[in-house]
Amino acid sequence: MVFSVNYQLKIFSSLEELSEAFAEILITELSASKDNFNLALSGGSTPKFIYKFLAENYQTKINWNKINFFWGDERCVPPTDDESNYKMTFDNLLSKINVYGKNIFRIKGEENPESEAKNYSNIILHNLPQQNNLPAFDMIMLGLGEDGHTASIFPNQMYLLNDRDICSVAVHPITKQKRITLTGRVINNSRNIVFIVTGKNKSKIVNDILNRRLNSKNYPASFIKPVNGKLIWLIDKEAAILLEGN
Ligand code: 6PG
Repeated sequence: MVFSVNYQLKIFSSLEELSEAFAEILITELSASKDNFNLALSGGSTPKFIYKFLAENYQTKINWNKINFFWGDERCVPPTDDESNYKMTFDNLLSKINVYGKNIFRIKGEENPESEAKNYSNIILHNLPQQNNLPAFDMIMLGLGEDGHTASIFPNQMYLLNDRDICSVAVHPITKQKRITLTGRVINNSRNIVFIVTGKNKSKIVNDILNRRLNSKNYPASFIKPVNGKLIWLIDKEAAILLEGN
């Protein structure tokens, strides 16, 4: 299946410039939003620098209390575990900015995965407006695995792209770690989808996906295309090294 996906691609020389660009996109979208802004954050290691940068440089430049914080996925571990996306976000951002606890919607990785997937789906349903009969995030931040996964939708679990549920349980193909993840239809229903990808180790997967090379149909991230919203790729020059002209 070949599909055309319209997206904005921005390539940066440094993580600082990329982080600043993300912050400015967030500020622009926040200012255009009259109600609270429903933001789903990414986990993994890439966002860690961005969260630190935001905490250090955008303490007062962003109206943090206007944001409802969600996560695109979570590892099924306690929030005290170093594997926890919530812990990484709390340590690097949430503990350093002025944000109401009531606006933080943590995926409870310590709970039974199947019941927490249902619980978090209900929390999303209760707090987000609907569009196309699905909850609509204002912005979803995504990372990209070297195997083409995004959130916790892995290449051997492509059905999660079209799953009827809002959140579902995924299993990391190598570590067998259980994860809770937003499903593809909810991700694609977001007003803004922002991929953040850095490092030379991501250059092949970035090139395969952005240039829709033949094997890209095997990668979940290839199927992230907003129904109505914007798709923005923020990548550093290392991750862009195989793209034409770089
Ligand atoms: C997670 C993330 C996952 C991540 C990619 C890239 O929970 O790990 O949501 O989708 O974004 O695996 O991870 P890095 O940024 O660590 O390369």
